[in-house]
Amino acid sequence: MLKTAARRAFSTSGLRAAGARISEFKTPFVPLVADKGFVGAIGNTPLIKLNKLSEETGCKIYGKGEFMNPGGSVKDRAALYVVEDAERKGQIGPGGTVVEGTAGNTGIGLAHVCRAKGYKCVIYMPDTQSQGKINHLRLLGAEVHPVPAVPFDNPENYNHQARRHAEQLDNAVWTNQFDNVANRQAHIETTGPEIWAQTDGQVDAFTCATGTGGSLAGTACYLKEISNGKVKAILADPPGSVLHSYIQSGGKSMDRAGSSITEGIGQGRVTDNMKPDINLMDGSVHIPDEQTINMVYRLLDEEGLYLGASSCLNVVAAYEVAKQLGPGNTVVTLLCDNADRYADRLFSRKWLQSKNLDILPPHLQKYIVLE
Ligand SMILES: Cc1ncc(COP(=O)(O)O)c(C=O)c1O
Repeated sequence: MLKTAARRAFSTSGLRAAGARISEFKTPFVPLVADKGFVGAIGNTPLIKLNKLSEETGCKIYGKGEFMNPGGSVKDRAALYVVEDAERKGQIGPGGTVVEGTAGNTGIGLAHVCRAKGYKCVIYMPDTQSQGKINHLRLLGAEVHPVPAVPFDNPENYNHQARRHAEQLDNAVWTNQFDNVANRQAHIETTGPEIWAQTDGQVDAFTCATGTGGSLAGTACYLKEISNGKVKAILADPPGSVLHSYIQSGGKSMDRAGSSITEGIGQGRVTDNMKPDINLMDGSVHIPDEQTINMVYRLLDEEGLYLGASSCLNVVAAYEVAKQLGPGNTVVTLLCDNADRYADRLFSRKWLQSKNLDILPPHLQKYIVLE
């Protein structure tokens, strides 16, 4: 039970009785009312200033809080757009089925969007994925098919199986997140405009990593267009991805070196989502896993942010870009999802050792709470 004074403070009549005038109080932040339900709650995420890194560089470094989307990640935006694109094209109607090949957040976004719109959701994924991911999708109502992990050029690859599944059904669509440009359109129409409005047009650079490329390409495309090319677009790439080499060589090579602990990012080809905008890139930064892991712990310690590795790689990239541009610049990146799905690895001593990533400085060691 609230004490009488506290109870009074929660009601306007209580405030008046306490002698206060309503006009003395600042208008509180009122979040958007999502009249369209779950799908209306996607996007409009906050732009979060990363104070310590901003201080260090003399720049303003912001992370867009995509982990605050209702399905928990940046991929809610793409999930909504690919489904609504299929609806518009008449590929799917009431009671239909959405099929996708995905090992991660797109599946979760699609499962939520499908429940909200009354569609069935079928997900194909490599059987190397954790039981936790499979369980998560199943508890959101998705039908999950773990299939042998084979390369893309093998017809049994999970993406091809997803396509064939959809082809065999009536009223079904394979949403094909990698090459369906409705994905990048989500970021042209939402992420880009939000960043422009939130910074009042005062943004100098945008950087993030790519999986499908939808987030980077779509956001960069919008920011370039609205700023007459002034906003710089920088690709952030983990080890094992070919895009850093592609950009650095002006499209001449696609070298792949090493592998990364980051999930959901890194690419072996230029997807259709990336193709129209890859030449808009002003540069690229390659981020080793040591720096990503260090940032996972720094952001917890310095900012209270509990983020997955792709977000932390993005922040390292934003920090590098800020240092390259110099004081006074504003750099924006994406905080794609939180650390929940990766916590059993990212905060485990054994796992860090197994990846040769037990490299944290003494003051961050206390956050390694798992064996
Ligand atoms: C955690 C995470 N970060 C980043 C990305 C990359 O986003 P995009 O596919 O728009 O390139 C993904 C994609 O699945 C992801 O799951």
